Parts: sequence; C-alpha cells; structure tokens
Amino acid sequence: MSKEKFGKEGWTPQRLGNLSDKTYLITGANTGTGFEAAKILLTKGAEVVMLNRNEQKSNKAIADIKEQLGANTKVSFIKMDLAELSSVRHAAEEVNKTVSRIDALICNAAIAQVAKQTFTTDGFERNLGINHYGHFLLANLLFDKVEQTGGRIVVVASEGYKMGLKTIQFEDMNFDKNYHPNNTYCHSKLAQMMFAYELQNRIKAANKSVKVYVCHPGASKTSLIRKDSPLMTRVMWSIMCLFPIVQSAEQGAYPEVMCATEAELKQQAYYGPTGRMYFSGPVGECKLEPFVLDQAIMRKLWTVSENKTGQKFQL
Ligand SMILES: NC(=O)c1ccc[n+]([C@@H]2O[C@H](COP(=O)([O-])OP(=O)(O)OC[C@H]3O[C@@H](n4cnc5c(N)ncnc54)[C@H](OP(=O)(O)O)[C@@H]3O)[C@@H](O)[C@H]2O)c1
Repeated sequence: MSKEKFGKEGWTPQRLGNLSDKTYLITGANTGTGFEAAKILLTKGAEVVMLNRNEQKSNKAIADIKEQLGANTKVSFIKMDLAELSSVRHAAEEVNKTVSRIDALICNAAIAQVAKQTFTTDGFERNLGINHYGHFLLANLLFDKVEQTGGRIVVVASEGYKMGLKTIQFEDMNFDKNYHPNNTYCHSKLAQMMFAYELQNRIKAANKSVKVYVCHPGASKTSLIRKDSPLMTRVMWSIMCLFPIVQSAEQGAYPEVMCATEAELKQQAYYGPTGRMYFSGPVGECKLEPFVLDQAIMRKLWTVSENKTGQKFQL
C-alpha cells in the first residue's frame, strides 16, 4: 500500500465512517496528538477512554471536548502513570473491569528530549520506562480484551528511531555511561517499534487475531518539547514551529487514527506523513529501515521487557 491508495491528499479523517459501536483507548490523550485523535474519533460517534497521568488536565480536556462536541460525547478518563508499573497495573485492572471492548489501544503517550538522566518509580531510565516498558505492560494486560474484540494495538513511534544508536543498548539500558537527551529518546522509540513488530510475529505464531500497527506523527506542534528539554532544543523547536515544515497537532493525529480504524493496512509496515523528511505531507506508508526488524534483538528485548515489568506475555 502507498499513499496513492488514499489519493493525492493521503489518508484523512474524511475516510472515517460511523464509529458509534467502537471503543478506543488512548494513552496521553489530554493534549497533543492524543487529544486530537480523541476528538476525531469522538466526532464520528466512538467512545474514547483516555489513559492519562494528570487528573486536572484530564478533566479540563474532557470539559473542552464536551464544550466543542456536546455534553453527551462518550469520553472518559482512567488515571494511569506510565512511569509507575503499579499505576499501569491498576489502570489495566480498571479497564478490564469497566470497558467492554477495545477496538484499538493507541499507545500514544511519551516523553522526549529530557536534558538530564532521570528515573521512573521502578528505577528505569525515564524515556525507556515510560515510552516502552509502561506500554509493554499495558498492552500485555489488555491483550485479551483486544483479542476478544478483534481489535488492534497502535504504537505511535517517531522518525527518531533512525537517529539514535539504531540498536538496543542491552549492556546499559539506563544510559548510565552515555546519557544523551536525543539518543536516549530515540532508543526508547526504537524499542517501542521492535516490540510492535515482535508482537506481530508472536500473534501470528499463536494464531491470534489482534493487528498491530506502527505509525509516526511527523513533526507536529504539540507540547512534547518541554521545560526539562535542553535550552538549544527548545530554541530550535520554537524556530521550526514558525515555519510550515511543522504541521498542526491535528494533522499529527491522522496516522494514529488511520492505524486505529482503516481496513487492510499491512503488518511489518510503518505509516505517517510521506512528505519531505516525513515531517508532514499526505499520510501513507513510509520506508521502514531494516535494522528495526533484527530478530535476535527483537527477541532479546522481549525477554528483557518481560523481566523488567515482571509480567510474562501470555499469547
Ligand atoms: N510532536 C512531534 O513532532 C512528534 C514527533 C515524533 C513522535 N512523536 C510522538 O507522538 C506521540 C504524542 O506526543 P505529542 O507530540 O502529542 O506530545 P505531548 O503533547 O507532550 O503529549 C504527550 C502525552 O503523553 C503524556 N504522558 C507523558 N508522560 C506520561 C506518563 N508518565 N504517563 C502517562 N502519560 C504520560 C502527556 O501527559 P501530560 O500532559 O500529563 O504530561 C501527554 O498527554 C509520542 O509518542 C511522541 O513520541 C511526536
């Protein structure tokens, strides 16, 4: 499949039909692309459960959505901090108890470009802990419900996967020796992608039906670069945002909404904006670098992730 499949404009929400019988879970949906993805899905009548860490921001996001889309909009939130495995477990328990179907679990939340090495509650380097281990555990604990629904898992990756070490640094997963704001973020996004493609392999081997899709949002105007990012990164990003090379957060949400809803997408593929440097442009299939599919590394990462999260993935 290429962008041509969707015409010159690429994939847009105009392709969406009525989603009133569907339920989508989105991590980190109080702002940025996650928030925009929620709005697009809700506009089509879907139910959206946000999995967010901050109650106040979540209530505000829900109030804003209801103001725009109507008081009966089916949006709710369950508190979940990906930086704390116990919080992920608690949220998954709540989802399994209260949500009857999961048409797609969209693993969207992330942190990026943190100037100094910091750790999650469980002692993991924070990028890897939140972006990868947190989502690995969540997907594991919700897998059965996604399977029962015949649903999908969508991993929101980043073009950064090919800008860092281009492999998994098993000998020093916490970057004690070589912490670097960009390389460490890119490492965590590569880990998320390797997890997704390995999950596809294991689903196939286990004869299960869940589809796993991987996308990236290009360069989108969101709050990803924050106060804890290096000064130079903040300055560069604000300058970039002055030019049309950076697209809106809404456009950045298209690939994840597409992966959550569109029929006949490919496995072992990578979707996102296809324009110059993949910053923006029509949404379609992007080139996937072969090092992401290194079987030995994918399998080793899987075992490490099961050990670190203390949860075997039953497929
Ligand atoms: N924007 C871009 O140009 C770009 C480029 C490449 C990839 N991406 C990817 O796009 C995805 C969405 O990011 P964005 O650009 O929309 O950034 P964003 O505006 O900063 O949104 C990130 C979301 O993740 C949440 N989050 C962060 N840490 C969390 C934690 N410990 N537990 C639960 N939620 C947490 C944030 O919650 P709080 O508001 O509470 O902090 C926020 O809701 C990410 O996967 C990112 O890697 C973005």
